[in-house]
Amino acid sequence: MTLNGGANTETNDEHQVSGHQEVGHKSLLQSDALYQYILETSVYPREPEPMKELREITAKHPWNIMTTSADEGQFLNMLLKLVNAKNTMEIGVFTGYSLLATALALPEDGKILAMDINRDNYELGLPIIEKAGVAHKIDFKKGKYHGTYDFIFVDADKDNYINYHKRLIDLVKVGGLIGYDNTLWNGSVAAPPDAPMRKYVRYYRDFVLEFNKALGADLRIEICMLPVGDGITLCRRIN
Ligand SMILES: C[S@@+](CC[C@H](N)C(=O)[O-])C[C@H]1O[C@@H](n2cnc3c(N)ncnc32)[C@H](O)[C@@H]1O
Repeated sequence: MTLNGGANTETNDEHQVSGHQEVGHKSLLQSDALYQYILETSVYPREPEPMKELREITAKHPWNIMTTSADEGQFLNMLLKLVNAKNTMEIGVFTGYSLLATALALPEDGKILAMDINRDNYELGLPIIEKAGVAHKIDFKKGKYHGTYDFIFVDADKDNYINYHKRLIDLVKVGGLIGYDNTLWNGSVAAPPDAPMRKYVRYYRDFVLEFNKALGADLRIEICMLPVGDGITLCRRIN
């Protein structure tokens, strides 16, 4: 999920003053121009055609703010190739941008258990995923998850990240990775509690703060918090 601007650039729910108005132009970088430079120089010219198509149809969705940004999609795609991921899980699919980034990175016999409480949004992206020739790697489910995974991407309900982690730490293999999205939560994690912020940002902020603290203290994992998109924390299971 990507969110516009930083906590310091937002005033209230109705009025948004981030420089990034176009969907996907969202970053925690202080300079909009710098983010635009990254997108135009490194991301868009190399974005696979189906991902571009999916990004463009998602931009028309009323909840388009939920989509994974193009720079994060590119990052996930390379990360999955670097770790030779084959068996993965994603919690929080929406229209499938990060899912497609994952599916394109996996080998032909790679698998993704894709979980979301809402299938309708996935159905929007599915024709593009099928056209890209990677739908056979995806098993979309609304129900419970199980298995052993090389990589798990979590981009769902932030107030449940702590609960996901309790379960997922046993499902990711030793040496495998879990990526938790939105761990910088619109920059609000470093904002004073009384700073102006959107209602949903304020609502989830305490959960994200508590979650980040818990990851910092969890000796079963090595962690790396990256300021990509809205912040993604990589957790490598070490025992
Ligand atoms: C930020 S969006 C995911 C964005 C997606 N990764 C992308 O690339 O577009 C969050 C998604 O989490 C889903 N979600 C919310 N609560 C959930 C839950 N308890 N279990 C599974 N999915 C959930 C929502 O339906 C929504 O599609």
